Amino acid sequence: MVRASVTTATPLVSRSGVELRYSSYDVLVIGGGIAGLTAAVGAANRWHVGLITKGALDETTTFLAQGGIAAALGEYDSPQLHLQDTLEAGAGLCDEEAVRVLVEEGPARVEELEKLGAKFDRREGKLILGAEGAHSVPRVVHAGGDATGSVVASALAEVCLSGGRVEVHEHEFVIDLLLDGGRCVGAVSLDAEGVLTVSLARAVVLACGGAGQVFVHTTNPLVATGDGQAMAYRAGAVLRDLEFMQFHPTALYADENPTLLITEALRGEGAYLLDQSGERFMVEAHPRAELAPRDVVVRHMKRVMERDRTDHVWLDARHLDCAYLKERFPTVHRGLQARGFDLCSQPIPVAPASHYYIGGVVTDLWGSTNIPGLYACGETASTGIHGANRLASNSLLEGLVFGDRTVRELNRYLAVSDPAVRKVRLALADEPRPGNDLTVVADIRSRLRSLMSEFCGIVRSGSGLEEAETGLSELEAGLIPPGLSVAEMELFNLLTVARLMVRAALLRKESRGVHLREDFPEPDDQGWRVHLLAQLDPESGEPVFRQEPRGARKVG
Ligand code: SIN
Repeated sequence: MVRASVTTATPLVSRSGVELRYSSYDVLVIGGGIAGLTAAVGAANRWHVGLITKGALDETTTFLAQGGIAAALGEYDSPQLHLQDTLEAGAGLCDEEAVRVLVEEGPARVEELEKLGAKFDRREGKLILGAEGAHSVPRVVHAGGDATGSVVASALAEVCLSGGRVEVHEHEFVIDLLLDGGRCVGAVSLDAEGVLTVSLARAVVLACGGAGQVFVHTTNPLVATGDGQAMAYRAGAVLRDLEFMQFHPTALYADENPTLLITEALRGEGAYLLDQSGERFMVEAHPRAELAPRDVVVRHMKRVMERDRTDHVWLDARHLDCAYLKERFPTVHRGLQARGFDLCSQPIPVAPASHYYIGGVVTDLWGSTNIPGLYACGETASTGIHGANRLASNSLLEGLVFGDRTVRELNRYLAVSDPAVRKVRLALADEPRPGNDLTVVADIRSRLRSLMSEFCGIVRSGSGLEEAETGLSELEAGLIPPGLSVAEMELFNLLTVARLMVRAALLRKESRGVHLREDFPEPDDQGWRVHLLAQLDPESGEPVFRQEPRGARKVG
């Protein structure tokens, strides 16, 4: 039996009066989207696997995905072409070797997923491939029209749950990773009844999605609060590209959270973007017009909205066949109908919303991080495939390809690694913690989102980012250490991610991809065609940033 004194990275919780439960696995997966489910399903072929997800399996970002999965499966397509499109969209910052892995292994992973039960849309037996922005050929497989995420997630969840292959814990919030002598040996979590669980594991896979909730308008579900990035940071993991948050051009312009995504595939089918005078403003802006790379569309929308003194534009599908629209886009059609809009007969007001966090935990091509025993995949990870601007529909593919690669690496690692830690002494804070008033927590969360939207959103400037830093400090000053509530711990994670995003955005003195600085409006290939890495300095408690050349393979 291995005995160890195990610590949480930083004591986000106090122990006083709290009931503790223990579980033990070979592999603990944190997160229930496509990457986490893929890793769990694959690892369960050989190992005892636990999966913890903070909401229900149908509350993930994956579940809301509409467009589909990009993979070179078409007659006129090839991995090489997919590679070129991804590199071009990535604005000079993709890691080409990682992209090559993505596009070469992608088609086989999609075919396997279909065999597992995700039925993709076909016509006369052939996969129907959708067009999306910056793809040079139709390449996006989809399911249930625009219900790809729910079809894929349900199929994977079904395999996961069938025959108890994976021990699934829904509605359980992972607070922190457990470390033993620099190795990750599990995590501590809080369930809906307020019971703390210590899950010991020989390997931990972080796959908890992104951080869209840092902003007011987001297509991400309420659970997307950057928990994976924040807990990895507290544990000493290296993070990268934290300044790059991708905004989706066409979320419904409405006061709701999350905002309804209106898939890019609609523009792929021919829908137009119109300004307030009814003009197609993207035609003059880019040769691909509405199907320009996403960063280009968002920037131009922003200019047009400023010019027209408004905060939305219009998405017009009235010229498309109504019966076809209803069949191809049932989720969007029904979602709009429920809100009083009709896709067939009226232009729909749309505005950009935060959608995908490119920044994340640095991994090699096999999901390994700089912390032994800790793996990351999906949106939580940074493999370098997205560069400074993700190509549409590459993210579900990323979850499949790198979820699978993580499993292959786990198989190697677990064959030789130490047995699981069996005994722990948690270094949780001892003092009783009253925690923060939950109305204060809700208020600070809302102010954080407004602050980030104003100063660290689509267009940024040095002075605005400095204001954001000051504002975040003021918000932090209004908080005492968290008690045992998910709302508080989410807020601390949001604050961590927001701080890192703002600092990285301040440091990157250029505009590239989704990062637009009005005081440095051009890309600076001499100075800035590099990544920014961030890591917690345990002495000062502050992040240390450093530059890294593109394609550097070391994860430490
Ligand atoms: C969409 O359906 O427009 C989203 C696709 C993506 O973000 O990859």
